[in-house]
Amino acid sequence: MFYLWKRSQVPIKQPTKISKIDNLIIFLICILISIISSYKELLISPLNISDIFSWLLTFTEAFVGSWILILVSKKENPTISSRQIILIVTLLLAVQASKLALVSTISPLSLIIPPALIISQGMGSITALAWVSIASITWPDPAVPVNNNLFFILLVCASVVSLLGGRIRSRAQLLQLSIFVPIGAFLSQWILIGKDKISFIEKQEFVFAKDNIFSDSLLLAIVMLFTILFIPIFESIFGLLTKARLLELADKEKPLIRRLSLEAPGTFEHTLLICGLAEEATRMIGGDIDLIKTGALYHDVGKLHAPNWFIENQDGSKNPHDEIDDPIKSAEVLQAHVDEGLKYARKNRLPKLIANFIPEHQGTLKMGYFFQKAREKNLDINENYFRYKGPIPQSKETAILMLADGCEAALRAMNINASDKEALETISKIIYSRQKDGQLDDSNLSKGEIFLIKRSFLNVWKRIRHRRIQYPTSKNNTFS
Ligand SMILES: [Fe+2]
Ligand SMILES: [Fe+2]
Repeated sequence: MFYLWKRSQVPIKQPTKISKIDNLIIFLICILISIISSYKELLISPLNISDIFSWLLTFTEAFVGSWILILVSKKENPTISSRQIILIVTLLLAVQASKLALVSTISPLSLIIPPALIISQGMGSITALAWVSIASITWPDPAVPVNNNLFFILLVCASVVSLLGGRIRSRAQLLQLSIFVPIGAFLSQWILIGKDKISFIEKQEFVFAKDNIFSDSLLLAIVMLFTILFIPIFESIFGLLTKARLLELADKEKPLIRRLSLEAPGTFEHTLLICGLAEEATRMIGGDIDLIKTGALYHDVGKLHAPNWFIENQDGSKNPHDEIDDPIKSAEVLQAHVDEGLKYARKNRLPKLIANFIPEHQGTLKMGYFFQKAREKNLDINENYFRYKGPIPQSKETAILMLADGCEAALRAMNINASDKEALETISKIIYSRQKDGQLDDSNLSKGEIFLIKRSFLNVWKRIRHRRIQYPTSKNNTFS
């Protein structure tokens, strides 16, 4: 719970702007949810004032509930897009509508648990928990009382799915969840509701009868399995970033990463080292490790447009920057690794959260070397020509990547005999210069976190140093 609370405290820095049309669509869906949830209360005849009042109450309850749900989702995901909010409210609308149509034939388990799985996977556990509570409160038909025990089981199962769904890291675990939750639901219904409600399929000729515990749980398993099948489609339509998708993108056999390793081997090596630095630091401050690992892998893919213009790929050959001898043009090539990277990201349909690492890892940093060269020629040259276009890091993860990117070359170049103190001083100097330049202003990293980041970079450096130490080997003792 502490972890969830901590995640819910992510401050809203720059919430994504939602267009007026999207706002209108969301508003209309919320109104529809409220109408569906409450209209049956107006069908009673004769209608008196108290009935109208209770209808108004249910209508307002459903409307306010939907709005609270949207606020919770925005709080958990400050960068949530309008498409994703539309997905959340549409799922709520679909559940309310199917409750009306199907409530007499199937149990609420199969209606509420599968959408909770989608939401927890794409938008996090807190949003999923909020969705489950709102979807359970606004029961549209007051004439259909829900068994208290069943309601309890529903809430427990949906909460388990919401909590685990936000943390699950592979499709295999998802599959396990979709088998164990229905089994859990079956056993708990057996214990709490009764054995007399079980009749196995043979007796029913494969018809899902309401109030039959076995067929309810079987249906839940089937619907959950179908949901898992459709999650990749939801991912691409609504831009959801599930843990499983993140891990798939982090596969080094992905074509773009393969190309990077073949066409820009120096950049690929640099990327791997940065992944190590960034991962360690993110673990230390409790950030999203899967996100930063994948983001780090793609941060410099833009260098594929001209690999030999970047020092790590030059391999002692001629430096094209010396040949053109034009600092402004050189700065443009450097900026192009960000612009081209964003193009690659679009072409390869990288999720926005991953694409954000591409411009934010450079922020608005100054290309110091070329700026100095330009000043040698013309003292009045505008510094802005030699700054990346930004934006500066907007999250802790992209800020860590910027710091790792800055420290990587310095740490790699450091003397093997350098002491820990010297390494820490180098790291601190680089981080301080980024801080002073205002690059970390929007990242929300605290002083304590920056201290931890320095320490973790030092730990990684110690590992690198250890790897570089040559072990003495004798002819007789090569493998011990
Ligand atoms: Fe870069
Ligand atoms: Fe880089």
